[in-house]
Amino acid sequence: MKPSHEIVNVALSGNSYDIVIGDGLIEQCADIIKDKSRDKKFLLITDENVAQHVLPKFQNHLLNNDIRLEIFTLPAGEKAKSWANLEKICEWLIEKGAERNDHIIALGGGVVGDITGFAAHIIKRGCNFIQIPTTLLAQVDSSVGGKTAINSKGGKNLVGAFHQPSLVLIDPMILDSLPPREIAAGFAEVVKYGLIQDEDFFNWCDANVEKFFAGDSPTRIHAIKTSVTAKADIVAADEEERSGVRALLNLGHTFGHALEAEAGFGDTLLHGEGVAMGMILAFRYSESQGLCPAFQADKIASLLAKAQLPTRLIDCPISCDGATLVGHMMHDKKMSAGNLPFLLARGIGQTFLANDVDINSVKQFLDTLIAEEKSL
Ligand code: GLY
Repeated sequence: MKPSHEIVNVALSGNSYDIVIGDGLIEQCADIIKDKSRDKKFLLITDENVAQHVLPKFQNHLLNNDIRLEIFTLPAGEKAKSWANLEKICEWLIEKGAERNDHIIALGGGVVGDITGFAAHIIKRGCNFIQIPTTLLAQVDSSVGGKTAINSKGGKNLVGAFHQPSLVLIDPMILDSLPPREIAAGFAEVVKYGLIQDEDFFNWCDANVEKFFAGDSPTRIHAIKTSVTAKADIVAADEEERSGVRALLNLGHTFGHALEAEAGFGDTLLHGEGVAMGMILAFRYSESQGLCPAFQADKIASLLAKAQLPTRLIDCPISCDGATLVGHMMHDKKMSAGNLPFLLARGIGQTFLANDVDINSVKQFLDTLIAEEKSL
C-alpha cells in the first residue's frame, strides 16, 4: 500500500474493516484487493454514469494487474433502488457463480452501494462486498456503516439489512468529475459531523470551505478522513442503531426527509440539500425551545450558504406550511409507538436525541419561520 494512503479502521466486534483513502486510489488499488477473489475475477455493480466516467480507469488498472471484472450496470438515479433491479442483480450474481467468499464490488454513489450491499447480504445468505464510493455523499456517509436497502412503494429504504462491507476504498480525485451541486450536497454531511460532536471540526470546515471547493487535495482528504472517522466511531458504538448513539447520524434528517418528500425525492431537492436545510431547522427549533444559545443556526447557515446550499425554507423548491411538513414527518420510518425521535442541539457539537418533542410545537415553529421568511 502506498504510504500516502490514509487508513481508518471501523472496529466492530465480528467484522472490522478498513477505509482506505487516497488520491488516485482507483488506479492504485490492485494490491489491496488482489487477495479478495478466488480466481482473479470480481463481480462489479455500477450505474450508467459511473460506467462512463470512472469505470474505464479502474478496469484498465485491474486488467494491467491481471484482474478481470464482470460488470452489471444499473440505470442512474434513485429509482434504480427497486425490487426489480434487486432481482436482476441477484439472478446475475447467481449466473456468474458468486460464492460466499467472493467480494462483490459496488462502484458508485449511495444508490449503487445500498442495492449492492443488500444483494450481497441475501445472495448465498451473505457474500462479502467492497464499497468504492464515487460521490462525496457516499464517500463520507453511505459507504460506511453497513445499512443497505432498496425502496418500496411505501417509502425509501424500507426493505434492507445491516451488512457491513469488507473494505471501503475512497479516491477523492473522483470528485473532480462531479457537478458542483453534487459536491455541495455531500458537503452538508461533512458539516454534520462537526455539528454532532466536534465543534473544532465545524470551525475547521468554516475556515476551509473555499479551499475544499477549489479541490485542494489535503483539505479534501482531511474533511473525508475526519468524517469517516467520526462515522466509524459512532457505528462501532452502536452498530445496529439500538442504543441511540447511532441515531445522532440522523441530525437534520427528520426535517430534511419531510422537505425531500414534499419535493418528491429526486433532483428537485437533493438529499444533502434537504439535510443542510434540516440541520439549520433542527438548530433553529432548538433555539426556539431555549435548548440552545441564540445565533448558532445563523453560524451554520452562513457556512452552508458559502457551499451554495439552501439555508432558508423559501430557497427550497417547495411551497407548503407546517402541517404539510409535519404530515410527512409522521410517515418517517423512525416513528415508534406514535413518537418521532428528533435530533436537537445544545450548541454546535452538542447534538442529542429527544424523544419527547411535541409535534404541535414543531408545526407552530415551522409556520412562524415560514411567515418570518416571507416577510423579509
Ligand atoms: N450505509 C450507510 C450507513 O450504514 O449509515
